[in-house]
Amino acid sequence: VPAELIRNFSIIAHVDHGKSTLADRLLEITGTMKADPSNKQVLDRLQVEKDRGITVKAQSVSIWHKSGDKEYLLNLIDTPGHVDFSNEVFRSLSACQGVLLLVDANQGVQAQTVANFYLAFSKDLVILPVLNKIDLKNAEPEVVANQLQALFDIDPSDVLKISAKTGQGVPALLEAIIGRIPAPQTDRDLPLRALIYDSWFDRYKGAIVVVYLQTGQIRVGDHICSAHTGIEYTVKSVGVLRPHQQPTNKLSGGQVGYIQCNMRTTQEAHIGDTLYLKSQPVTDVEQLTPAKPMVFAGVFPLDQSQNPVLRTAIEKLTLNDPAVSVKQDTSPALGQGWRLGFLGLLHMEVFNQRLEQEHNAHAIITAPSVTYKLKIKGKKNQELMGGETIYISNPAHWPHPQIIEEMSEPIVLATIITPDDYLGKIMSLCNERRGIQQNISNIDNKRIMLQFVFPLNEIIVNFHDGLKAISSGFASFDYEDAGYSPTNLVKLSILLNGSAVDELSIIVHHSKVDFEGRALCRKLVEIIPRQMFQIAIQATVNGKIIARETLKAYRKDVTAKLYGGDVTRRTKLLKQQAEGKKKMKMIANIQIPRDTFIEILKKE
Ligand code: GTP
Repeated sequence: VPAELIRNFSIIAHVDHGKSTLADRLLEITGTMKADPSNKQVLDRLQVEKDRGITVKAQSVSIWHKSGDKEYLLNLIDTPGHVDFSNEVFRSLSACQGVLLLVDANQGVQAQTVANFYLAFSKDLVILPVLNKIDLKNAEPEVVANQLQALFDIDPSDVLKISAKTGQGVPALLEAIIGRIPAPQTDRDLPLRALIYDSWFDRYKGAIVVVYLQTGQIRVGDHICSAHTGIEYTVKSVGVLRPHQQPTNKLSGGQVGYIQCNMRTTQEAHIGDTLYLKSQPVTDVEQLTPAKPMVFAGVFPLDQSQNPVLRTAIEKLTLNDPAVSVKQDTSPALGQGWRLGFLGLLHMEVFNQRLEQEHNAHAIITAPSVTYKLKIKGKKNQELMGGETIYISNPAHWPHPQIIEEMSEPIVLATIITPDDYLGKIMSLCNERRGIQQNISNIDNKRIMLQFVFPLNEIIVNFHDGLKAISSGFASFDYEDAGYSPTNLVKLSILLNGSAVDELSIIVHHSKVDFEGRALCRKLVEIIPRQMFQIAIQATVNGKIIARETLKAYRKDVTAKLYGGDVTRRTKLLKQQAEGKKKMKMIANIQIPRDTFIEILKKE
C-alpha cells in the first residue's frame, strides 16, 4: 500500500459516547466484519471490558475501504475513555495523524472530551469533530456544536453528525476520514523505525508487539534490535490486525501492524521503544515517557503457597499493562507480596479483576495510597536520613512525626462539567475533599465547567462515584497531575485487640483525623465477621486513641441443632464452615475477609 492511501486515526471520546459502537459500524460498513448483532463491540476483547462495559486496552484494527477508484487502508485504534487510562490514549495517538473527537449529541461535551481534545491538540493531530447518537429524540446537535465552538473554536460547519447505532452519517464520515486526515509522512527507503505502542502476551508465541512504522520496511526473517535494550530478535511473523492477526509479507512505512519475534520474557516489550534493523542501526530515537503511577497498593497472596501463581499472573498482566509499576514487598501479617502502582482506583480494580478472571489468581489488596514527599529533620550524614527528601507510598513506612521537617502531597487539577442545577451540591463535595476552586465558566446557558485543585489522596476513593450520585449521573470529571503541595498529615493506625495492623493504617490530613478514625472503626466493626472472642477495634494517632468500637463475640455453631444427629450431615456442615474460613486471612489471631482492605476505604 502506498503511504498516500493510508489513514491512521483514533477515536477519542468521553466514556459511553459510543466509540466501540462506532468502531463496530466502521468494520461492518467496510465489510471487515459481517453485520451480526452478536458482534457487539468486537474490539472490547477482555472479559473485564464486557463486564464493565468499558474499554481498558487500546485495540487496533486495519480496514480496507474503497473510495472512488482507490482502495484505502484505514487503521483505527480504539482507545479507552476512562480517566485512569489516559496513558493508553496518549501512546496510541503516537501512531495517528488524526482523531475523531466523538461527542454524544444528547449529553454534550464532558470533562474527558475536554481532556482528550487537548491531548490530540498538543500532538498536532487533525481533529474531526463528530456528534454521535443523533437518532436519539433528545439529541441536540446544534447545541453541542455550539459548545464545541465556545470551548475549542471549532467551526460548526466542520462538525459531522452520525448515529453509530443506525449507521446514519457513517459513510460520509469515512469520506471525511479520507479527505481530511492526512496520509502519514514517511520514507520507506530510510532505515526501519518501528515504534512500539502496544503489546500483548500470547501463551504460545510470547510477546507480540503492535507497531507504527515511521520509516523503512520489515519482513519475516529480518534481524531487528530494540533501541532501548539492544536485544536482538528475528522476525517470525508480521501482519495487520483485522482485528485478528492476519500475516502479510511485510509492513511498510506509515503502516500499523503486529510483529512477532522471539521476544520471550514479559519484560522486553517496552512501550515507546523503537525497533530497527540490525544492519541499519538508528540512534536518535524518541522515547515515550512511561505513565506515572499515582495510586499504590500492596498485593498479597491469600496464602504463601499461592505466591508463584500470583507472581506469574502479575508478570503477565504487567506486560499487557505497562502502566502498572511493580516492587517486592513484605508485610508482617500478609507475608511476601508486591507493592503495585496504578494510574487510579479504577485501574487498580480492573487489574485485580483481570488477575482473577484471566489468571485465576486471588489476592489481598491493601488500602490504596498516594506517594507523599517528606523532608527529614537534621543535617545530612548526621543521623539516619537527616536532611534527605524521601517518598513514601506505604503508610506502614511512615516515619515518626518527630523526625519529619516538611511534608507535601500530590495534587491534581480537576475539570468538572455539570448542568448548573447541581452546582451547590458539587461545591460542597469539593470542599469536603479539600478542593480549592481555580476557575468557573459557562459552556452554554445550562452547563458549567469548574476547575479545582485537589489533593490526589482525597479523590482516589469514591470521588467519581460520589459526583455521579449527587448529579444524577450528569456531572463528569477528569484530572491531570499538578505536582506536590505542602500539607499536614498524620498516620492513623488501627489496633485489633491491642495489636497494630499496619495493613489497615492510612495517612490522613490532620483536620480529618477524628472523622476518619471514627468512620474506620465503624466500618471495621461491620465488615469483620464476629469471632469466638470479643475484639476491641481502636484507631490511634501517635499512640493516642481517638476512636473505638467493640465487636461482640459470637459462635456460629452450625452443628448445635444436630446434636446426636446424622454423622455425615454433621461432617458436611463442618466442611462447609471450613471452606468459608479459607476465604479469610488470619491477622493478629483474627479472621479478616479478603476484601476488607479495599472495603474500608470506600467512604459512604
Ligand atoms: P467505552 O469504550 O467504555 O469508553 O465506551 P464507548 O464510548 O465505546 O461507548 P459504547 O460504544 O459502549 O456505547 C455506549 C452506549 O451508547 C451503548 O449502550 C451503545 O449502544 C449506545 N450508543 C452508541 N452509539 C449510539 C447511537 O448512535 N445511538 C444510540 N441511540 N445509542 C448509541
